[in-house]
Amino acid sequence: MRFERSHTRRAVALGVASSLVLLASACGGDSGDKNSSGGGGALEGHGPITFATGKDTSGFLPKQVAAWNSQHPDEKVEIKELPENANDQRQQMVQNAQNQSDAFSVLNMDVVWTSEFAANQWIEPLPEDKFPDLPKLIPATVETAKYRDKLYAVPITSDGGLLYYRKDLLDQAGVQVPKTWDEMLAACLAVQAKVPSAKGMSCYAGQFEKYEGLTVNFSEAINSAGGVVVDKDGKPNVDTPEALAGLEELTKGFSTGAIPKAAITYKEEEGRRAFQEGKLLFHRNWPYVYALAQKTDGSSKIVNKFGVAPLPGKSGPGVSSLGGHDYAISKFAKNKATAVDFINFMASEARQKVNLSGSSQAPTYASLYDDPALNKQFPYLAPLKASILGAQPRPRVVKYGDVTAAIQDAAYNALSGKTQPKQALTDLQTKLTSLITQ
Ligand code: GLC
Repeated sequence: MRFERSHTRRAVALGVASSLVLLASACGGDSGDKNSSGGGGALEGHGPITFATGKDTSGFLPKQVAAWNSQHPDEKVEIKELPENANDQRQQMVQNAQNQSDAFSVLNMDVVWTSEFAANQWIEPLPEDKFPDLPKLIPATVETAKYRDKLYAVPITSDGGLLYYRKDLLDQAGVQVPKTWDEMLAACLAVQAKVPSAKGMSCYAGQFEKYEGLTVNFSEAINSAGGVVVDKDGKPNVDTPEALAGLEELTKGFSTGAIPKAAITYKEEEGRRAFQEGKLLFHRNWPYVYALAQKTDGSSKIVNKFGVAPLPGKSGPGVSSLGGHDYAISKFAKNKATAVDFINFMASEARQKVNLSGSSQAPTYASLYDDPALNKQFPYLAPLKASILGAQPRPRVVKYGDVTAAIQDAAYNALSGKTQPKQALTDLQTKLTSLITQ
């Protein structure tokens, strides 16, 4: 029964898709570019839509959507919540597209998926003039939403890695906020030696489970040691002394116990919980953690006890991977004009400001970072702005799914002691070269 239903839906979707193609060519809208669907012509239809998004760890999204729904009773947005793990979210969105299903209208896409989804024609190209706020967004975030210079999505949240630290304990030990990995380790040892309540705490953790977050943490370690995963021309270059120094910083962390063994299973949420429960002195995570760690409902033991600083690096401040989420419109969706309006609503300065206040997620609206009142209220805004402006994008390739899987394998094998770091990087170089340069 279920099979038949989805089969019918697929046939209908195929029918709609092919009549749109016919329509586009009849209107002369098809420019001959295989990635064009006739520009804005296809973005038609008002009515209810869905919004497919990874698990809402902020807990704030329903409020944003409710604000839209109360103003648009005939064009309501229904949230389709996907798993927490970025890899699983991608898989479900890919499956939806491969089935040509209309179940997902607007896709909350990780910034690293644009090339793959655009090249496969799973998302609509978006005419820039339909999105008036676009010129006011941080340019690097807009770049993540483009494929071959064409816009396919609108960046709604950005993300930059931050170093969360236990300000109370550093102050008690009279220790400065560290700027380098060595300083961070020294600070940790000093706090453990001088502050009795810090005994038994671990020094540091990021995200080291085998998923997208590991690609992020591995890339940050390499970039923060002066290396690259891919160079400026898009060529892999991980078999270098700099990359080795970065990876060894993490493997050393595990072998010395500075990073707790359990961190090999940490995604964002496991790390956040460990930090909030007072198990970690330093923690690498995204800005959304700030609002949750400051919650006064009893869920956090560190309310007003922590600070936020730029990530540390080998010989100075570190380099974040550029994270964030862009909203795209599924090629197979209905009511695409409503989808455009909903995206504009969420991209607006007013909504991004509300989202910043409610969820501490990073806005893409540039001016919000320079607002003095907001900076006073949210002390992480200055380090966050620096993190995002200095961030390195992950490889922008159509085969991103394969590229990130190769990175995750190599990094995980090195961190879990299965492969020596040097060997892991040599193997990864070979694999990335065959994936990226073919
Ligand atoms: C955050 C970032 C995203 C990244 C993911 C990794 O959601 O915004 O870009 O890929 O974390 O777990």
